[in-house]
Amino acid sequence: MTVITTIEDLRQLAQARVPRMFYDYADSGSWTESTYRANESDFQKIKLRQRVAVNMEGRSTATKMVGIDVKMPVAIAPTGLTGMQHADGEILAAQAAEAFGIRFTLSTMSICSIEDIAAHTKKPFWFQLYVMRDVDFVGRLIDRAKAAGCDALVLTLDLQIIGQRHKDLKNGLSAPPKLTLANILNMATKPRWCLGMAGTRRRQFGNIVGHVKGVTDMANLSAWTAQQFDPRLNWGDVEWIKKRWGGKLILKGIQDVEDARLAVESGADALIVSNHGGRQLDGAQSSIEALPAIVDAVGQQIEVHMDSGIRSGQDVLKAMALGAKGTYIGRAMLYGLGAMGREGVDKALQIIHKELDLTMAFCGRTQMAQVDSSILLPGTFPRAG
Ligand code: GLV
Repeated sequence: MTVITTIEDLRQLAQARVPRMFYDYADSGSWTESTYRANESDFQKIKLRQRVAVNMEGRSTATKMVGIDVKMPVAIAPTGLTGMQHADGEILAAQAAEAFGIRFTLSTMSICSIEDIAAHTKKPFWFQLYVMRDVDFVGRLIDRAKAAGCDALVLTLDLQIIGQRHKDLKNGLSAPPKLTLANILNMATKPRWCLGMAGTRRRQFGNIVGHVKGVTDMANLSAWTAQQFDPRLNWGDVEWIKKRWGGKLILKGIQDVEDARLAVESGADALIVSNHGGRQLDGAQSSIEALPAIVDAVGQQIEVHMDSGIRSGQDVLKAMALGAKGTYIGRAMLYGLGAMGREGVDKALQIIHKELDLTMAFCGRTQMAQVDSSILLPGTFPRAG
């Protein structure tokens, strides 16, 4: 096997090993995918300034996210159906994050449940909340996350309706997959994946099936989402959720300065500048382009994080240089998981950490606190206003 040195190596391996419908689910954006692509390509446009003859000994990428010590300013993003990229995927990714020293965020739409993650890890993790029409269920989810010892709640604000991803519709995405001829033929080419799935009982949405009355089958994900997610989600909901949760609250999906100001008013601890990995509003600006204006407007009042488009430690460093206090990786983790399970997630984290550490050093810095926009070449990066 080729030696794995990049996230792209893991992506290629995942594409070969994961059934098409799940690989496509992860590796796609909505409509034309222009925002999905811009998230990555806008990072490439930003150039770094090399500094030389700076003492590079004693480097550290350690920092804090919402007051929690982390080995690098990266958390694992909440991603739906992670346990379909690899058997028990969320447990494996949470264990990898814990071993590495960063936080794992569990999606509401995960395969392994909140309780599964708590039972297989020792350190706290974060829980991402989607708001459903069934308010009792949402309240119970919050209580379950609390009981599991989660030390931050990530409330997603940009998906009360779902963006159209063409491939999911064409592939008939469902969990577990329907046993159509096309799916059987495709899965027959993924023996590793099938073996893993045969060995686990976790094949449905673990936080939902068995916890909501009448839900035994969620086969058609987009139809289920359309029925169950609450399209009326608004800032009033943020208020009651914050109260019910009572712990650290991170608001995910902010792209606009006005919304960032509302996030500050809500009293949340952090916001995530995110366009949901280009999966919601296609045609929106990239997340890294949106970041500086939001940092400029509210960075003194709230901790600003970012996600969408991070595929390397260099991307993490660029986001930090533009004022983020933390970042999230979704696909970079999923590629590792789909490629090699736990070992693949370990690998993804190591790759990103090493790229971050070396790049920071080449830019003449030895600590995260020293990273600011002076490490970037003027004229190559987005600015506020
Ligand atoms: C869910 O979060 C999705 O983007 O599919």
